[in-house]
Amino acid sequence: MRHLMNPLDLSVEELDRLLDLANDIEKHPEKYAHSCAGKKLATLFYEPSTRTRLSFEAAMLNLGGSVLGFSSADSSSAAKGESVADTIRVISCYADICAMRHPKEGAPLIASMKSRIPVINAGDGGHQHPTQTLTDLLTIRSLKGRLGDFTIGLCGDLKFGRTVHSLIQALIRYPNVKFILISPEELRLPDNIRDDVLRRNKQEFKEVVRLEEALPELDLLYMTRVQRERFFNEEDYVRMKDFYILDKEKLKLAGPDMMILHPLPRVNEISVEVDDDPRAAYFRQAQYGVYVRMALILTLLGLEGTIC
Ligand code: CP
Repeated sequence: MRHLMNPLDLSVEELDRLLDLANDIEKHPEKYAHSCAGKKLATLFYEPSTRTRLSFEAAMLNLGGSVLGFSSADSSSAAKGESVADTIRVISCYADICAMRHPKEGAPLIASMKSRIPVINAGDGGHQHPTQTLTDLLTIRSLKGRLGDFTIGLCGDLKFGRTVHSLIQALIRYPNVKFILISPEELRLPDNIRDDVLRRNKQEFKEVVRLEEALPELDLLYMTRVQRERFFNEEDYVRMKDFYILDKEKLKLAGPDMMILHPLPRVNEISVEVDDDPRAAYFRQAQYGVYVRMALILTLLGLEGTIC
């Protein structure tokens, strides 16, 4: 039985196969419409979500399976004090696979140790968000035609942004990826990722504060929201929240093929006037999230080889 806690839980070869499967699902959805008949996915969300929870549910429904779960800690027995370990033991009796989001870093890992079904980390605190990374990789590979040989700018809340942490870990395994880390001083990438991931792997990167300085160099721009829910006080959040706003004027500094990604939800960091720009790929990215989660469910249930 396999779980997914971190993008590195999949080898590059496994990841390639999973992305190929997701592309096939996109092209031939009818082939997969009954492949999870009789299977159940539990979505255990202790934190708010729109895309991750609903795209997991859509993925399982598209595969002919069923879904059950909860969308907030308040509506589960966590509100009565039940531990994650006890909850997953019980859910293992009700479902075949589960996706868990939790505000505490490592909570899905604890669950995986007590689980009798595959557990997928659907975001744990400011730590990791591996299925967003699968979505990002599928989007980049499908729209850019390659994973590697590009310069990517990661912009915004690099301190608390778990999507950025997971994406960096995944991308260092591909050739010739250069990172430009764009953030205010207070929201810089955590030391453990800068030192243990980027420096240790001799990865080319630089840190800048001004988005305008980075834009002309980028093949990809990955914008992120300032993570209000991880701040200790509201004043600091208010000071930081509009530090970056990508608008049409700033986009004039970027190349004609620079792809704009965002895990969403967006607050103010990308002006709505950018949505119609052909470089804006963030809503297509959300669509790819369904295909890649379908591929992941099939893979973790060991069903990926059963479809003709
Ligand atoms: N990208 C993402 O995780 O969005 P949600 O918080 O809406 O799930």
